[in-house]
Amino acid sequence: MAAFRASCLMHRVEAGPLRRFTSQIFAAAGTPADIADTVAEFLVRANLCGVDSHGVIRIPEYIEEIDAGHVKPSERPRIAKQTATTGMIDGRWGFGQPSGVMAMELAVKKARKHGVGTVLAVRTNHIGRVADYTELAVRHNMIGIAMTNCGPAVAPWQGMDKLLGTNPMSFGIPAGKEDPIIADFATSASSEGKIRVMRTKGMALPPGWVLDRDGGPSTDPAVLYEGGVLQTFGIRGYMLNLVVETLGGALTGEGVSDEFKGVNGIFMQAINVKHFTSLRSFTASIDKMVKKMRSSRPAKGFTEVLVPGDPERRTMRERELNGIEINDAIWDSIMQVAKRFGVKPQTTGA
Ligand SMILES: NC(=O)c1ccc[n+]([C@@H]2O[C@H](COP(=O)([O-])OP(=O)(O)OC[C@H]3O[C@@H](n4cnc5c(N)ncnc54)[C@H](O)[C@@H]3O)[C@@H](O)[C@H]2O)c1
Repeated sequence: MAAFRASCLMHRVEAGPLRRFTSQIFAAAGTPADIADTVAEFLVRANLCGVDSHGVIRIPEYIEEIDAGHVKPSERPRIAKQTATTGMIDGRWGFGQPSGVMAMELAVKKARKHGVGTVLAVRTNHIGRVADYTELAVRHNMIGIAMTNCGPAVAPWQGMDKLLGTNPMSFGIPAGKEDPIIADFATSASSEGKIRVMRTKGMALPPGWVLDRDGGPSTDPAVLYEGGVLQTFGIRGYMLNLVVETLGGALTGEGVSDEFKGVNGIFMQAINVKHFTSLRSFTASIDKMVKKMRSSRPAKGFTEVLVPGDPERRTMRERELNGIEINDAIWDSIMQVAKRFGVKPQTTGA
């Protein structure tokens, strides 16, 4: 397979060359090589998982953020304060991904010794796909919880004003022989990024995702960028959204609702199973639960039952083999940025 293969509508790109290309763009924009590699790794991993809304589509946006002085590419996160079981990271307005990694790694370290670690991070930029951090805890056989509030883009239940973020949450649960459970979702009906991707593909939205500027329902993705607003996923999404707003905005001290001053106010927690029960009996229970779910008779219209994390794992296997498809509009916007910095993809032609 060509490293970068163009068709009239799609580019199919191998993960490795795409990672190098992405890293080179950020490095050319003043990012130290190790940070550029981390950001590239996380963006491409999102694409591999099928979460294209948090993949390389973000390159032009991140470069704009550097241009505007919002992302300080060479800044590194630091531990601002900590106790045996808690920590606070200062992201110093560098890229968000290194802050997210530092927060969860510190939480894991504390949980290894004390059973639980809770670490918050402030002054961070966008951390991307939140499951990347709970997966990190799972790799240490710990339960990972990660949440982040975001700038206001979502209306409260029954309201039409932008007062809440898309406020995602992720839970990672280690298993034994089975795959871990990785739940990862925005508390809005959709992430903004997914709507952005659907708009570039000319797709209609399902009902209940957005309201137009007059507070009326719409299935047109464009209305979101013309004064419209995202909706929560029902009343339950609204309640969970307020929890994320509290942990990411009030507990971090970065402010809540439309007074939130940050980009992502981060809450991360690692729970060391071994401090509560034996890891063997815990993972046996999770294996049993996963197997039970999969063995359920599929409802009408479905052929199988999955557990959270399955769709991403499947997409990753397929994309690692066949490459990542990037549509022309997104590819062109990335190439414009690359051209500006004199970075060329490893193109081998159409
Ligand atoms: N950093 C930020 O500011 C920010 C903000 C919002 C969202 N996000 C990210 O956006 C991404 C997309 O969020 P979303 O709300 O669109 O996710 P989504 O609604 O697509 O839900 C994804 C979750 O559902 C699970 N899932 C999907 N189909 C399933 C099935 N048939 N059976 C069992 N489980 C299934 C997936 O494994 C995954 O855990 C997430 O990675 C989130 O972390 C980040």
